[in-house]
Amino acid sequence: MNVGIIGAGHIGSALAVRLVSLGHSVYIANSRGPETLKDVAQKTGAKAVTAQEAARHGEIIVVTIPLKNIPDLPKDLFVDVPADVPVIDTSNYYPILRDGHMPELETGDLTESEWVQQHLGRPLIKVFNNIFAEHIVTKGVAKGTAGRIALPVAGDDAPAKQKVMALVDELGFDPVDNGGLHQSWRQQPGTPCYGADLPADKLRELFNQMGTQRSEAQHAEYLANHARLERDMAQKGEN
Ligand SMILES: NC(=O)c1ccc[n+]([C@@H]2O[C@H](COP(=O)([O-])OP(=O)(O)OC[C@H]3O[C@@H](n4cnc5c(N)ncnc54)[C@H](OP(=O)(O)O)[C@@H]3O)[C@@H](O)[C@H]2O)c1
Repeated sequence: MNVGIIGAGHIGSALAVRLVSLGHSVYIANSRGPETLKDVAQKTGAKAVTAQEAARHGEIIVVTIPLKNIPDLPKDLFVDVPADVPVIDTSNYYPILRDGHMPELETGDLTESEWVQQHLGRPLIKVFNNIFAEHIVTKGVAKGTAGRIALPVAGDDAPAKQKVMALVDELGFDPVDNGGLHQSWRQQPGTPCYGADLPADKLRELFNQMGTQRSEAQHAEYLANHARLERDMAQKGEN
């Protein structure tokens, strides 16, 4: 399969390494142009291209850039991309360390990926946002292995979600359907599954406990949890 990846940082490179090792052709892009991606291409085996080329080559497309940069993506990014090509979003909102405060994400009306979807004008599938990039490379295991990490997959386009869930499985993780994009708050920063590498039964149990409608108390709790994490990261010089 051809996979287009827009964003060649931690997540983009981790996915590229794994996908190439599985025999897929990966087309990877950043903001500065393919000539700046020689090292990434060499390390991952992906082909360095522009963002538009990555999108046009992809049978699946991954957008994995900082949330604050989403509005900078080219407006014609998905022109000529067939409507049945799934587009994955890995975004997380880091207001303190990276993105600055976005009031529309703090009211609780929109999930982070719904905000991205509004900007991109394409139905999105959210996945790979709650696992460390390095674990994508090191922690995938065969289906049926005890303790296999499960990844939540959210989105409103059922056929696209099925294709993405199959890819998650191929990469060595159990895909768990997390409902539509409006429900993807359950996998956002500050929630119990964020960075927790849970197996499928625990993830499903957690989602059952969380319910489907985000309450104001849940929203406030997860924002506060994430602010603590961001402040800890800032103190340790991580960002
Ligand atoms: N790091 C993790 O472990 C992790 C885990 C899960 C989810 N996430 C989330 O996934 C997203 C990406 O994270 P990351 O850690 O991979 O980011 P990163 O390491 O900072 O890399 C960001 C990449 O995005 C590219 N980029 C920025 N603006 C762009 C634009 N307008 N057009 C094309 N490419 C652009 C950058 O290219 P240039 O350098 O050329 O600007 C860079 O290659 C974030 O929302 C993050 O919160 C990260």
